[in-house]
Amino acid sequence: MLSEKMEKALNDQINAEFYSAYLYLSMSAYFEEIEYPGFAHWMKLQSKEEEDHGAKLYEYVISRGNNVSLESIEKPQDKWDSVEAVFTHVLEHEQLVTSLINDLVELAISTKDYATNQFLQWYVAEQVEEEENARDNLGKIKRAGDSKDLLFLLDNELGTRREED
Ligand code: FEO
Repeated sequence: MLSEKMEKALNDQINAEFYSAYLYLSMSAYFEEIEYPGFAHWMKLQSKEEEDHGAKLYEYVISRGNNVSLESIEKPQDKWDSVEAVFTHVLEHEQLVTSLINDLVELAISTKDYATNQFLQWYVAEQVEEEENARDNLGKIKRAGDSKDLLFLLDNELGTRREED
């Protein structure tokens, strides 16, 4: 079984992952509103991926014989000043999630919960990928600048994202 402290920490992380799903769905809605269907599609898939991250933690807590306790999900931001502001927010958010995962790993190691440490390594690797994707996207958006034509091309590119990407 997990310690009470670890159970609470993993439940908090379930909430953080579902908040991420909510935030990216809100970004998807924003992109629909300002008519960038490709960015909206990319964000919707990202939102689904975050639901999977939450569900994986949920299954783990149950598998250890502990309890899942779902808390309210905070209302996400729903307006941004520009496309670049949204992608900047994604990178900052992923950096925050990385720090949450690192805190969980530290807790697992300091309490000799090696099974949870091993489980969390999937998230450690995933965060490297998440930050890399966020940095790549932001770099492309920055290079496009104010060019509507380049943003149109990028919207098309991100619109080709498939479920497993
Ligand atoms: Fe679940 Fe985007 O980290």
